[in-house]
Amino acid sequence: MPFPVSVAHSMVNSGIAQNPPTAPGDFDGLRVAIFGCATGIGRAVAEAFVAVGAQVAMADIDPSIEATAQSVGAASFHVGDIGTLDQPGRMVAEAAQALSGLDCLVNVAGIQIVGMVADTSPAAWDRLMAVNLRGPFLTCQAALPWLEQSSRGAVVNTASIAAQRGGPGGAAYAASKGGLQTFSGTLAVEWAPKGITVNTVCPGYVDTGFNAPGIALMGGQEKLEELVRQTVRLGRQATPKDIAPAYVFLASSGARYLTGKSIVIDGGIYP
Ligand SMILES: NC(=O)c1ccc[n+]([C@@H]2O[C@H](COP(=O)([O-])OP(=O)(O)OC[C@H]3O[C@@H](n4cnc5c(N)ncnc54)[C@H](O)[C@@H]3O)[C@@H](O)[C@H]2O)c1
Repeated sequence: MPFPVSVAHSMVNSGIAQNPPTAPGDFDGLRVAIFGCATGIGRAVAEAFVAVGAQVAMADIDPSIEATAQSVGAASFHVGDIGTLDQPGRMVAEAAQALSGLDCLVNVAGIQIVGMVADTSPAAWDRLMAVNLRGPFLTCQAALPWLEQSSRGAVVNTASIAAQRGGPGGAAYAASKGGLQTFSGTLAVEWAPKGITVNTVCPGYVDTGFNAPGIALMGGQEKLEELVRQTVRLGRQATPKDIAPAYVFLASSGARYLTGKSIVIDGGIYP
């Protein structure tokens, strides 16, 4: 059914009709490399990109990424540890070669350590920072030569609502996500003259295996559900599919003027 004339006019006047959030053919052949997508949010992001016609390279430390990539319909898979010094660059190069270039780099890989500051070992702190913060730095660095060649280079990193405010037992994790958010904002400034956008997605509570240690520390699933009921305005945890569309939007032609920002997807915890 056609829109009433008044609605169609307001769409034209607001610019929506000329510049829709995603244009037909927007993602046809768009080359996207995703790090940390064997499970959870990353897998949903890969599925969302494939669904709109992008060519996707999937990278993860978990060898099950091979089977996941096949079932998602990805163009390639790459196994490696983003928390090392040499493997992020190797995987980016492999992914860009498999896709014959790169338009969008997505970092989702992350780990959690749960423990009070007094009990956190320097080794656990270092490992968490290596995966959550240095890993995205190294993939961004390695992706630059390819992103520069793209007419619509984009980076989407994954922080968390913990980037603004962590909870007891989550200081190291919060520090890594706060660092990633600040890194991303600064990189956006540095790469804006190159035409590359850099943004961050900050999920709230997402129902994946990732939170199991935190839920145990809280006292079990019932405690988490109580917390969600009390703090999340929409009254439930997110599913990975609630989070994934933001990544696709940030890689779309409609997001070319959006950089250095964070999209918080938390069901209304901090409206
Ligand atoms: N689940 C939540 O509530 C939540 C909330 C906010 C932010 N996040 C963030 O979202 C991201 C994804 O979390 P998720 O909930 O989907 O968890 P998940 O555990 O399902 O997914 C994490 C993925 O990263 C991969 N990975 C872990 N370490 C890696 C490494 N060293 N090298 C390469 N890959 C590695 C894992 O194998 C897995 O596929 C993480 O960065 C996490 O911090 C999650």
